[in-house]
Amino acid sequence: MSIKHLAVSNLLNYHVVMTRPLALITGASSGIGAAYARLLAADSDFVLVARRADRLQDLAEQLRKAGAAVEVLLADLATREGIAKVGDRLGFGDVRVLISSDVDPARIDDLLTLDAEAHVQLVRAALPGMLAADEGTIVTVASLLAFGAGQTGPRPPRRTLCTAAKAATVAFTRTLGHELADTGIRTQVVCPGPVATEFHQGLARTVPGAMTAEDVARAGLAGLRLGETICVPGLEDQSAALDALLGAESAVLSGGRRSDLASRYR
Ligand SMILES: NC(=O)c1ccc[n+]([C@@H]2O[C@H](COP(=O)([O-])OP(=O)(O)OC[C@H]3O[C@@H](n4cnc5c(N)ncnc54)[C@H](OP(=O)(O)O)[C@@H]3O)[C@@H](O)[C@H]2O)c1
Repeated sequence: MSIKHLAVSNLLNYHVVMTRPLALITGASSGIGAAYARLLAADSDFVLVARRADRLQDLAEQLRKAGAAVEVLLADLATREGIAKVGDRLGFGDVRVLISSDVDPARIDDLLTLDAEAHVQLVRAALPGMLAADEGTIVTVASLLAFGAGQTGPRPPRRTLCTAAKAATVAFTRTLGHELADTGIRTQVVCPGPVATEFHQGLARTVPGAMTAEDVARAGLAGLRLGETICVPGLEDQSAALDALLGAESAVLSGGRRSDLASRYR
């Protein structure tokens, strides 16, 4: 090997050893987003996104003590301006981990903007840099509600739009994962049940058996190591349930793709 090659490879080794991947986390000022940041603190640098500056600065201080470089980016992701601001930051192309842990909109009209569109726009902004590096991790936080459209029974308020938004996030992330299969980019959608956070004024804290935000983030990160593209933190036999889901989807998809009407319509 020539000296030039040796120098370059030493430089690369130095670079690899010294550089921590940059993770951009939305919803980082509390709950699941903050839990991800704390769990990744030993290995990552961060861009932390939310609206509350004081909360983000407190977390940033904790993460810096663990050796991380941290940027705080204030943005309201219920607005197109806020999404564009975060998209601009992602456009620098240096973010290798995107954790899109979206949020509780103040107005019902914002629900689909915030919960479904923000994920799409942020992923779109992050992808060119990840594709250029052929490396990246994209995590969206959805909910078990994504699988709840067929369920009847007592419903909390705003369930219809929540279910639609979360189902959109699951479909988006799953399909994206297939499109990126031959790249170095991994995708995962995390679907927790009730989590004891500040969400909905801490509503889930009153639900017996609510999970902690730390456990949700821990499950998501462990699931990534296991190669899971869907992570349901509380689901014991996940692969059997997801195989059954895929089987049901395939039956509808292949059975319905015909030129003639089903016999009951003739
Ligand atoms: N908690 C549950 O029971 C539960 C269950 C299933 C799924 N989830 C999902 O998990 C995700 C995270 O929820 P969480 O439980 O961690 O809730 P959380 O503790 O209330 O945290 C929400 C985070 O989003 C930020 N946020 C809220 N509105 C925002 C806005 N308009 N623009 C930018 N940031 C905003 C908040 O910070 P600022 O207020 O500082 O902006 C906070 O950092 C949500 O997508 C939720 O649907 C939660």
